[in-house]
Amino acid sequence: MYDILITHIHNLVQVREQALGFVRGAAMRNLPTLENAYLAIADGLIADFGSMENLSTSAKATTVIQAGGRLVLPSFVDSHTHLVFADTREEEFVMKLKGATYQQIAASGGGILNSAHKLQQASEDELLAKAMIRAIEVIKTGTGAIEIKSGYGLTTKDELKMLRVARKLSKATPLTVKTTLLGAHAVPKDKSKEQYIAEVVEEMIPAAAEEKLADYVDVFCESGFFSPEETERIVEAGKQYGLIPRLHANQLNRSGGVQVGVKTKAISVDHLENIGEEEINALKQSLTMPVSLPAAAFFLGLPFTPARQLMDAGLPLGIATDYNPGSAPSGSMPFTIALACIKMRMLPEEAINAATINTAYTLGLSNTHASITKGKVANVFITHPMRSVAAIPYSLSTNPVDQVILNGKVITQTK
Ligand code: NIG
Ligand code: FE
Repeated sequence: MYDILITHIHNLVQVREQALGFVRGAAMRNLPTLENAYLAIADGLIADFGSMENLSTSAKATTVIQAGGRLVLPSFVDSHTHLVFADTREEEFVMKLKGATYQQIAASGGGILNSAHKLQQASEDELLAKAMIRAIEVIKTGTGAIEIKSGYGLTTKDELKMLRVARKLSKATPLTVKTTLLGAHAVPKDKSKEQYIAEVVEEMIPAAAEEKLADYVDVFCESGFFSPEETERIVEAGKQYGLIPRLHANQLNRSGGVQVGVKTKAISVDHLENIGEEEINALKQSLTMPVSLPAAAFFLGLPFTPARQLMDAGLPLGIATDYNPGSAPSGSMPFTIALACIKMRMLPEEAINAATINTAYTLGLSNTHASITKGKVANVFITHPMRSVAAIPYSLSTNPVDQVILNGKVITQTK
């Protein structure tokens, strides 16, 4: 007896007999799919799948869902978000429309410092209530696992507050949540950079580790923010406490972020709007996943990650939303996939691999999430009627997701 049996699935997508670490280069075009398929779920896990002609007539389930004409995909894994924040920043958006740059706004006390000012005044309960609304929104667009960063606290107390909210989301929602301490996101107004780095290294990292609030450590490695040397110092301190590095690298400049990521064995280097041969060669020698955040490049009018160049060099590539109030106010993975295809010329199959298996690798979820594999967590979604995965990016901003199943339970029908 199954809990859920989905039958007559037009295409069951991302079917893998066995879990795999990541896909790279030309293999990213391969998105194994089963036509006219069934998917059986029991005890929160994927119990079985196959062609309809092989479905045993004795198969029974508490809930049977007929998915004729629809696709079923593993839930997206969004490996880079700043989902916990106190308020939106549309005033800065308008300043940008009038010609100000991201750096100019940041230098005048806006940007990350603006978000920090508001977050410091918000209570944990207020932040949780606001983050819950965003979490529900991203569940509806197909996200099943998510990384959430701190970085708008900029004091030990407020960074820990953010991480506690992120941990609470993991209990309060069906999302699988991983957390990252991004204390080194900006230097607060009342401290020198040296003083603040000392606080991150000596106070914040030990405190976050002590309360088991963070899985990863991140640094905004960028000119005007933290240099590669400072990044290395912070990341090495994090490693001492068991935090795995993942970095903001090469968003605004060729800052050396990729190289320091490779050197410190970061699990991922994210953004990559400004990279060339040197960065690509460094990545080739590593197990560091390059991750592109096309919504941030789109929103800020930056160049896009040269995705084809990375994949042509045989590298893997992940894509994530970067959901945050300053540079990417959207948590939609389908929209991110659309941008990856339209602006970076990724094929739909490549973009879906990038949004599932490759981002799962960076969160240590390769064996449990991101593919249709027996024994994996039953995190899947059923689309509206469509002929192929190409309809996901083609539909641009239309939500392709109709029904969501997380941890083997029907969560929502999106309309
Ligand atoms: O990933 N680049 C640094 N951090 C965020 C933006 C943060 C903000 O502007 O609030 C990003 O783009
Ligand atoms: Fe970010």
